[in-house]
Amino acid sequence: MAVVAADEAPVPGALRTVEVTVPATSANLGPGFDTLGLALSIYDTLTVSSFADDRLEIDVEGSGAEEIPTDASNLVVRSIAHVFTDVGRALPGLRISARNGVPHGRGLGSSGAAVTAGVLAAKGLLAGEVEIDDAALLRLATELEGHPDNVAPALFGGLTIAWTGESGPQHKKLLVHRGVAPLVLVPGFTMSTSLARSLQPHQVPREDAVFNVSRSALLVAALMQSPELLLDATDDRLHQDYRGAAMPETLRLVQALRRAGFAAVVSGAGPSVLVLADGPGGRQAAVDLADGVTDTPWVGHMLAVDVRGGTVRARAEGST
Ligand code: HSE
Repeated sequence: MAVVAADEAPVPGALRTVEVTVPATSANLGPGFDTLGLALSIYDTLTVSSFADDRLEIDVEGSGAEEIPTDASNLVVRSIAHVFTDVGRALPGLRISARNGVPHGRGLGSSGAAVTAGVLAAKGLLAGEVEIDDAALLRLATELEGHPDNVAPALFGGLTIAWTGESGPQHKKLLVHRGVAPLVLVPGFTMSTSLARSLQPHQVPREDAVFNVSRSALLVAALMQSPELLLDATDDRLHQDYRGAAMPETLRLVQALRRAGFAAVVSGAGPSVLVLADGPGGRQAAVDLADGVTDTPWVGHMLAVDVRGGTVRARAEGST
């Protein structure tokens, strides 16, 4: 995440311009509720310029463009402002141009991507004046997102284990076995994360807790070394069934895929379905199966694991 100079022309009047790229993410991965996350090769790309005045200009293209606010309530703006406040700097005028590839409201980390884009943009706009390290980026992003399992892979790429320790949110990045081939099946409807969370009980039977502890430990091994174990390793008893009442088609598709031998899980809080195939060849069969399971059409995206995570680079500096 180094801020590097690039060749593009300066933006007239801008103090700084940075370009930010952030991957989609899939959180939970079945048993790893609020803990595991995977960065995926769909991206939001933003150009953010700072100005000496107090302007705020936002344009959005792509996913969610119709509903994303273009005022100070915009999540990217709030995230930039959060960083400037944290380091004791006044927020400059901003122009933000976003090209969103990450589907909105589909369990693919769109809000985590917006938060990550904001904190990375702020890092780039402050570079040379205030240094913001990886730990601070994760802390700031988690303060905004509420849990670190989407923002950790969005920031750092790969497979991440995220937890909150004595000194705040932490992460460990791991590299995924190259045989693992992600497929995301995205429906036309959306799901609210807060609704999904409200459907879960505060207490679970001990045997269900043990079930998830064993599967999430196994999942790390399966993703790194032993993709043939992915079906067993992606089973869950903590969240998916409880949330299924609010997204029955998603649960039905996950169950049908699992019965057919695919390691399918609800992606994040849903409603998309993530399939972790143990080779690229298996994915078309999962797409074909999805066509017949529900009345809802599912759009299949055959993806790669993003290993780089979010990036920010300076496009122009010091032009007036
Ligand atoms: N771990 C989170 C959840 C991810 O499932 O609620 C979605 O933000």
